[in-house]
Amino acid sequence: MQISPFRWFTRLLSLFPFLTHAAEAPKLGWNTPKIVSQYAAHSQLQEEWQLEVLGAYHVFQPRESIIEFGSGNGAAAFRMAALTRLKGGHVRGYDISPDMVAYAERHYPSHENANLAFFPLDNPTFSHTGIENADLIASFCVFHLVEQPDVILKNMFAALRSGGKIIISYPIRQPGPFKNAYEETVAQFDLKKPTPKTFNVSDPHVMRLLLTKAGFIPDIVQHVEPLNIFPTHQAFLDWCLGTLPANWRIPENLQEAACLYFIQRFLVHTGQDKLDKNQPLRFPGHRLDVVAIKR
Ligand SMILES: C[S@@+](CC[C@H](N)C(=O)[O-])C[C@H]1O[C@@H](n2cnc3c(N)ncnc32)[C@H](O)[C@@H]1O
Repeated sequence: MQISPFRWFTRLLSLFPFLTHAAEAPKLGWNTPKIVSQYAAHSQLQEEWQLEVLGAYHVFQPRESIIEFGSGNGAAAFRMAALTRLKGGHVRGYDISPDMVAYAERHYPSHENANLAFFPLDNPTFSHTGIENADLIASFCVFHLVEQPDVILKNMFAALRSGGKIIISYPIRQPGPFKNAYEETVAQFDLKKPTPKTFNVSDPHVMRLLLTKAGFIPDIVQHVEPLNIFPTHQAFLDWCLGTLPANWRIPENLQEAACLYFIQRFLVHTGQDKLDKNQPLRFPGHRLDVVAIKR
């Protein structure tokens, strides 16, 4: 069937709003190759947290089916796949950001890692994944970002076998230098604050309630204060550039300046502003570690 030039023209016109929107809308969150590679190169802190959490709360069993929710650049899934490989286990990482999944697939391809695979999620609540009878669902540094933790927990519950386990660990908000420097950065750069979330998952009581409502038996819900160490100021700046722009949705043109300003204020608040830039920086982090069982 022939389409007349006029109809072609009207079809093109109907696409115009989508095209202009796509061209104008900056990609925020964990969705640009630049953020993804900056995160991947400078997230040693998150990797130390993953190791601490896995060592504390899990002993790998033979032939486990392991899921990671929010697998990011793939480093944790790769590590778990190595820990379970000789025991016949396998790991599947899921993430909402196609750029993150593409990075993970490129760096840890299935043809080199037979017991590891990555998948994009097409919705933020972990629904319709088709996962059944998983033994373990792990999630590191994701739950502070999600809008519907209640629905996600229910979907995790459905994806587990009976007796299966979730391990969820994420940074939590506490009053102190980090929060103060964040508030000052937001004010200085007129950054858009996220609308307050329905559930404050920084509060252990809220998390316990959500777990129970989803059907889980909470085993551990604890506030942990890991000591964060950066070998130099530059290492701290690199970490900030990899993590904060996505978390705080900082527009690309402000990312460098906002991170530098944040660090300046943070160092003042922690009394480390006179420190030699090549000296290590140390400060306590705040994390909620959650372990729960499906009975
Ligand atoms: C700080 S990164 C953590 C990545 C990795 N887990 C780690 O510890 O290095 C947060 C990740 O969570 C993902 N994420 C955020 N919200 C999500 C959701 N609703 N569903 C799945 N992934 C999500 C982001 O795309 C990003 O890759």
